Amino acid sequence: MLINEAIAWKWIKTFVYLSVCITSVVGNEEASRKCADFNNTTWLEYRQGTKLQVQYLLLTRKNADCASLFTQDCLNHTQKHTAYFNSSLPTKVIVHGYRALGSKPSWVSGLAQALLREEDVNVLVVDWVYGASFAYNLVVENYKEVAVQISVLINQLTKYGSTLESFHFIGVSLGAHVSGFVGTLFEGKLGRITGLDPAGPMFKSADPFDRLDSSDALFVEAIHTDSDYFGISIPVGHVDFFLNGGMDQAGCARSRFASIFIYFPVYGYVICDHMRALHVYMSALNSSCYFIGFPCSNYEEFLAGKCVTCEGPFNGTCPQIGLLKNSGITANPLPNQEKVYLLTTATPPYCAHHILLELKVSPLDKTAEVQLTLISVGHPETELKLKLNTDEMVHKKVAAHPEQLCKIDSVQLKNTGRRFYRQGEIHFEYICISEVPQTRGLDPLCVKNIHIGRGVPWSHEFVQLC
Ligand SMILES: *[C@@H]1O[C@H](CO)[C@@H](O)[C@H](O)[C@H]1NC(C)=O
Ligand SMILES: *[C@@H]1O[C@H](CO)[C@@H](O)[C@H](O)[C@H]1NC(C)=O
Ligand SMILES: *[C@@H]1O[C@H](CO)[C@@H](O)[C@H](O)[C@H]1NC(C)=O
Ligand SMILES: *[C@@H]1O[C@H](CO)[C@@H](O)[C@H](O)[C@H]1NC(C)=O
Ligand SMILES: *[C@@H]1O[C@H](CO)[C@@H](O)[C@H](O)[C@H]1NC(C)=O
Ligand SMILES: *[C@@H]1O[C@H](CO)[C@@H](O)[C@H](O)[C@H]1NC(C)=O
Repeated sequence: MLINEAIAWKWIKTFVYLSVCITSVVGNEEASRKCADFNNTTWLEYRQGTKLQVQYLLLTRKNADCASLFTQDCLNHTQKHTAYFNSSLPTKVIVHGYRALGSKPSWVSGLAQALLREEDVNVLVVDWVYGASFAYNLVVENYKEVAVQISVLINQLTKYGSTLESFHFIGVSLGAHVSGFVGTLFEGKLGRITGLDPAGPMFKSADPFDRLDSSDALFVEAIHTDSDYFGISIPVGHVDFFLNGGMDQAGCARSRFASIFIYFPVYGYVICDHMRALHVYMSALNSSCYFIGFPCSNYEEFLAGKCVTCEGPFNGTCPQIGLLKNSGITANPLPNQEKVYLLTTATPPYCAHHILLELKVSPLDKTAEVQLTLISVGHPETELKLKLNTDEMVHKKVAAHPEQLCKIDSVQLKNTGRRFYRQGEIHFEYICISEVPQTRGLDPLCVKNIHIGRGVPWSHEFVQLC
């Protein structure tokens, strides 16, 4: 939902005394050569009611590994020793989220460097660790005020020649809602907002005004990886990528023994699902890895192979995670709150090939279970369990495999029903595997007329096609 300008300016006026963002801090050359960093907050320093201590770090291709504190000097092109903000370039704004322990987010420089490798841009990092630390409910009270401060800075930058459209906010967790509120203050005219597992607790039932939504920028996208816990479960963008269903990520521990936020050592491990959105995003910036989402009404239908084309809302081109304009969506107008699903592997770089398995079984007299294994030498095997019912002949399933179709060396099939109830012999009319979305010139690999006995697994080798 948009708010009118009068309300926006009321917000900005209320907090304008906090606009300390462009003040001269770096005095001498010595200081300006030192790399700037996040300010740590310790529990002792933290006192409720003091001003939020928001600061900004600037990274460019000239100082990709040594941030400078963003000051007035950064706008001066003749200043020798500071990296400067080039207002004819686009700007990426990175906004972190809740910091349970008041520590700085360790992933920021990795994300900034990945962005700078891909595009010549200004990267502005918002350090609001002070306001983001300790009690989550108090942090949630701060996020709008942080957004207002950022909007004052953006407003200043537009006076130096940046356009609102040239800003791309990348917000992690609560940072996604901070970004969304900045977008609200600019009436949806910012270029793009990427929400990396936007925070769920206290936001799911919030009014769109109070959380990230698709009216906050010209293009809003979100990646969901922990929507049953720290992340939000509802779609909030033009397109919403749900990775592995959006809840539990491959390679993250399943145990959910914490029902409240846990602050201490287990914290790192509890947020594995939540942080996966960020790590996948960084991996996607590395152009060797593709993450393409399939539009589908839910995850179960996607896994059942019912959504393997890119027809429908995307007009034949499925959206891709990364920096492509509008995630590669060509449909006009943009879809809204469109859910797309994709699978990943358990380990970096996480990108997987989607293999569609289709098999036709001859009539069975009782239900059976089979396990199908896809093998590419040198990679972990992909195992799939299938339940075969007596009333269904054609079975489909989508699986994530680390290699493309033409690099699958063999397929194995095992009769795995419970020992004493096991179907004696299973006959398949055919088994086909194909890669989706279907690429030109790659026909499905099919094997016909297969019998699997009670004990002996069946396997078939493919001739390497690439
Ligand atoms: C923040 O704390 C860490 C660990 O205590 C320390 O290594 C780092 O230098 C501190 N950074 C700043 C900017 O004070
Ligand atoms: C960060 O820490 C430095 C050194 O302690 C301090 O001078 C500065 O005011 C702090 N900045 C903010 C925004 O809190
Ligand atoms: C820009 O930097 C130069 C060299 O340091 C300085 O002489 C000049 O006053 C600065 N201009 C502004 C507008 O700060
Ligand atoms: C700023 O970026 C533009 C566009 O890439 C470039 O042409 C220009 O030279 C840059 N300005 C400076 C001072 O480097
Ligand atoms: C990018 O990909 C290359 C090659 O696959 C890999 O060596 C590198 O570690 C990747 N970088 C990131 C940031 O994922
Ligand atoms: C869909 O794509 C076709 C050709 O690729 C194009 O002519 C058509 O305008 C597109 N439709 C929409 C609604 O974007």
